[in-house]
Amino acid sequence: MASDVGSTTDKLSQLGINGNFTSSAPNLQKNLHLLSPEEIELAKMLLDLAQGHLFENWAEPGVDDDQKKGFFEQVARLHSSYPNGLASYVKNARVLLADSKAGKNPYDGFTPSVPSGETLTFGDDNFIKFEEAGVKEARRAAFVLVAGGLGERLGYNGIKVALPAETTTGTCFLKLYIESILALQQASCESSQGDCETEIPFVIMTSDDTHSLTSELLESNSYFGMQPSQVILLKQEKVACLDDNDARLAVDPQNKYRIQTKPHGHGDVHSLLYSSGLLHVWRDSGLKWVLFFQDTNGLLFKAIPAALGVSATKEYHVNSLAVPRKAKEAIGGITRLTHSDGRTMVINVEYNQLDPLLRATGHPDGDANCETGYSPFPGNINQLILELGPYIEQLTETGSAIKEFVNPKYKDASKTSFKSSTRLECMMQDYPKTLPPSARVGFTVMDGWLAYAPVKNNPEDAAKVPKGNPYHSATSGEMAIYRANSLILKKVGVQVPEPVLQVFNGQEVEVWPRITWKPKWGLTYSRIKSKVRGNSSISQSSTLAINGQRIILEDLSLDGTLIIHAIDNAEVKVGGSVQNKGWTLENVDCKDNSEPEVLRLRGFKFNKIEQLEEKYSEPGNFSLKKP
Ligand code: UTP
Repeated sequence: MASDVGSTTDKLSQLGINGNFTSSAPNLQKNLHLLSPEEIELAKMLLDLAQGHLFENWAEPGVDDDQKKGFFEQVARLHSSYPNGLASYVKNARVLLADSKAGKNPYDGFTPSVPSGETLTFGDDNFIKFEEAGVKEARRAAFVLVAGGLGERLGYNGIKVALPAETTTGTCFLKLYIESILALQQASCESSQGDCETEIPFVIMTSDDTHSLTSELLESNSYFGMQPSQVILLKQEKVACLDDNDARLAVDPQNKYRIQTKPHGHGDVHSLLYSSGLLHVWRDSGLKWVLFFQDTNGLLFKAIPAALGVSATKEYHVNSLAVPRKAKEAIGGITRLTHSDGRTMVINVEYNQLDPLLRATGHPDGDANCETGYSPFPGNINQLILELGPYIEQLTETGSAIKEFVNPKYKDASKTSFKSSTRLECMMQDYPKTLPPSARVGFTVMDGWLAYAPVKNNPEDAAKVPKGNPYHSATSGEMAIYRANSLILKKVGVQVPEPVLQVFNGQEVEVWPRITWKPKWGLTYSRIKSKVRGNSSISQSSTLAINGQRIILEDLSLDGTLIIHAIDNAEVKVGGSVQNKGWTLENVDCKDNSEPEVLRLRGFKFNKIEQLEEKYSEPGNFSLKKP
């Protein structure tokens, strides 16, 4: 033992560390000779940060030595994955915990006002102009999906991106997203009128909770048609939990050699992209835009081309996609905040902060609707388009750190102890908080029916949502796709009747004809319009699945189910009267365990009684015209 202690002393002196540094942690002192110089450095850092309690219950040397090594591996990971290291995490935590205890309002001194942005109406000239500009620009874009969330509110037993966006075709969210990016890639190349070999990069941020299932989903489906090299998975790490206002790191209740950790939030995506080096690679290869989106919005890509067109035309450094928002509706409002000291920013303000902030700054009605019937503050849907150059500059300046927050649940009004450990969190949309006033930060408002229908809530919670507010459930998410597709076809001249109201899983929803199409069929308004000719009609009880790029609807009268598959170079004219018994919608009880979970979550399934299904697998021109 004597020689061990001697070698430890040598190691310490080589490191320039005073041998007494462990006096506050006797159990660490006993184990010091087991540690490598790197581990000793980490131990010293922890003691400097007043974290000696982490070693309190360590066993004598010779017992659990592997686990002690594992402890330092974890500390090294926590240290390297946080911008500016663990010391910075503890320091930030102390400041934020003190502010929280003092009840400090982060918006003190700021006055809210309505920022400027673009409001689009689907299908009008302006919209079409922006869509075409966006399609052109797409070949200079990279897409980033944040998909590390646990999805606790939904309670699905798998990863959210594997859930079907709709059950007519069973297309899962990840497939829909990939096919949408590929459709944009192809259209963008075609619009460039030159040789174009663009492969739009697609990053997926995962976490320990979602990484392996995401990777398996991609592998087992041949990346849904993307080149595997196009898809990059970046895994976010969790952050250390905090036990008290002094930011004492929490020991895992199950394992005394582990620090308890929890997710840090989707704001991690910025530091991960930066530290991966991808942003610089993209810039060097001529890319200009990074588009961020979330795991379960089946409508998003209907809004992406026009929103990207707005970014390009208006030269926005930051463009937040937004939807009209009713006053006090439970989504954040995009707001310009101006401080009395001159600071200004355009930022998402959570709905429960916006109302008091307005009241405190001379708006006695708080968050109220204006003459449009909506709040003047557009509703943030957390899909961002950033211009790459200024993005890199900004992350370089901030060390890629995003403003964090802490949300401890205190035991009592003294705010001295927590009900359970807490941690710092950060949100993707808080990126603009550190931008200089010169940054061009805007928004693009789209119709809600076109752009936003996330799947976040389980059936029981969705059924409790107050009437008139969105359910954000698998039921509403799927029905929103049918509604959007029906409204789009209506807009280009197809007769589609009004929906009927039906209740599934306790949620009353509009049921439109179940119309679906591949992204490459209906990427933009103009492309859809060019594929719909003559007088067509689709009855409310019908189902239509368009699985092919060059399928033309021409004088079609559909009352039943019609499914058409066609390869890219088969043009198929579909018309005449198609009538059959079709597919009916049947209720599924969300508690009926004999039904698959994906059906229980939405509360309905199709009874496939009769359909016309045609496949065109040879190139050429075809006609499916029923008399
Ligand atoms: P959500 O608000 O849907 O949160 O995240 P969640 O964590 O997935 O679900 P709940 O709150 O537990 O029910 C919005 C987006 O951010 C991603 C999610 O995957 C989703 O796309 N996210 C969230 C991350 O990537 N990492 C996180 O740490 C949290």
